[in-house]
Amino acid sequence: MIRVKSEHEIEKMRTAGRIVAETFEVLKEAIQPGVTTKELNDLADRFIKKNKATCSFYHYSGYPGSICTSVNDQVVHGIPSRKTVLKDGDIISLDIGACYEGYHGDAARTYAVGKISDETQKLIDVTRQSFFQGLIEAVPGNRIGDIAHAVQSYVEFNGFSVVRALVGHGVGADLHESPEVPNFGNPGRGVRLVSGMTIAIEPMVNMGTYHVNTLSDGWTVITADGKLSAHYENTVVVTGNGPEILTKC
Ligand code: MF3
Ligand code: CO
Repeated sequence: MIRVKSEHEIEKMRTAGRIVAETFEVLKEAIQPGVTTKELNDLADRFIKKNKATCSFYHYSGYPGSICTSVNDQVVHGIPSRKTVLKDGDIISLDIGACYEGYHGDAARTYAVGKISDETQKLIDVTRQSFFQGLIEAVPGNRIGDIAHAVQSYVEFNGFSVVRALVGHGVGADLHESPEVPNFGNPGRGVRLVSGMTIAIEPMVNMGTYHVNTLSDGWTVITADGKLSAHYENTVVVTGNGPEILTKC
């Protein structure tokens, strides 16, 4: 069942989304060689709580962190740790969720730590742009497959691959609602979009194979070939005037 949101609900999601966006601005400044992913986690935790919100991911299905911090070949759901120290040349994907008055905002960004290669920067840029290619299709009357196909085509045209084992999702009173929003598939297929639908579009893009594995911690998803992966996500509301990004930063 897809839960179409009222203007009142969307207003709460705007606040949740703004808190998520502002958390990225805080963390962005802290990303540098020597910082641990636990320190980034704690900065986010404090900032979200200071803004009268809660961390959407904390204890979600038992997840132990406040945010997800995925380094290099880690695709998503990396668990913040005192032992994970960022170093020059790394990339780090931050996935942040905040819940304000019962409504969630969910977004992800990938950042460079110090200096990275041109090819790695291209991975980050293509991942971000693939979200915007998908976003163009997020209009009433289109279908989920239109978004999925736009993301996939753009990524593959640029020589990278889209992860298939994990997908985007509806978002609102629950962090994960219907429908699923895959980053691969055929145009004209799947659920039809209507005004007031709120979805998280979240391409996960690999430099090599799209195959992934999960570490024995039960959470951390890594690329099967050890090559790099990037993530870009926003919470979006579908409207007749075009899509509105609720987690814009
Ligand atoms: N943005 C991710 C998602 O939509 C974050 C979930 S992490 C979890 O799945 F720990 F909450 F599962
Ligand atoms: Co998400």
